[in-house]
Amino acid sequence: MTDKQELIDEIRALLKERNAIMIAHNYQRDEVQELADVTGDSLALSQIAADSDADVVVFCGVHFMAESAAILAPEKTVILPRLDAGCPMADMITAEDLVKEKAKRPGVPIGAYVNTTAEVKAMSDICFTSANAQSVIASLEGDEVYLIPDKNLSHYIARTSDKKVEWWDGFCPTHERFTAEDVIKAKAEHPGAVVICHPECLPEVVDLADEVCSTSAMYAFAKASDAETFIVGTEMGILYKLRKDNPTKKFICPSEGLICPNMKLITLEDVAESLRTMTNVVTVPEEVRLKAKAALDKMLAVPRD
Ligand code: 13P
Ligand code: SF4
Repeated sequence: MTDKQELIDEIRALLKERNAIMIAHNYQRDEVQELADVTGDSLALSQIAADSDADVVVFCGVHFMAESAAILAPEKTVILPRLDAGCPMADMITAEDLVKEKAKRPGVPIGAYVNTTAEVKAMSDICFTSANAQSVIASLEGDEVYLIPDKNLSHYIARTSDKKVEWWDGFCPTHERFTAEDVIKAKAEHPGAVVICHPECLPEVVDLADEVCSTSAMYAFAKASDAETFIVGTEMGILYKLRKDNPTKKFICPSEGLICPNMKLITLEDVAESLRTMTNVVTVPEEVRLKAKAALDKMLAVPRD
């Protein structure tokens, strides 16, 4: 038996012993996605974590995602196998920053992308993800909204919203590296290819895309499409399942920059070690958790498109 197979067998045994579920974001390393009980986007994974019968959730993703699971399911032990797997975009706005922004626009609702810390969610009126952003923002009363922290996703929402939309100036360093020139070059190399991109991409990239959607919506789109070749504008971890589920179709990564170093931190060894020792547990202070949960629950109550 190889060392890797031994490690996989150990993780499977530990998951059973601890009554644990292993969930992985669509950007995780191939071998982590392969072993996970379930893969998905940030919204789906938080809900799966909350609804599961497991006592322990091994969340292979980044910190805000594990925090969301801990907010929704406080009775479960949520493990992030690498506590240093953060999201630079989520760290671009602090609670202190938000206090100042709120003071500038009293009464204007704050919409927080799930890529925010629990503390920031706790100070927001509602959360949203890339999978439900437009319907969540449309559900808010009033004709103004302030969105945090992603300027690109906020710009994308503003395109179709009837409201006056203002936003914080954060961004995802990974998606920001992907340029319109990259798209133009990939299209020239692959004539007829369909361009799909995440709404965290720059507005000029979004302008060139045939489809703009969350990571999980990309799977559904690629499966349903008759196209043979797709230029995929998001973190390259998504290619694992796109290729696995669509063996006759071709998926192109148009930029070497489309890699999120934080999403790639967790290895199988980290998963095994955190399950052996039951360490790297993510918790949220109860006062913060209840307020952050209210913003997440409000989002979850909005009917899906
Ligand atoms: P999803 O909500 O589509 O999973 O994306 C999360 C994320 O971090 C994208 O960079
Ligand atoms: Fe954060 Fe960007 Fe990485 Fe997603 S891809 S976790 S937004 S840094």
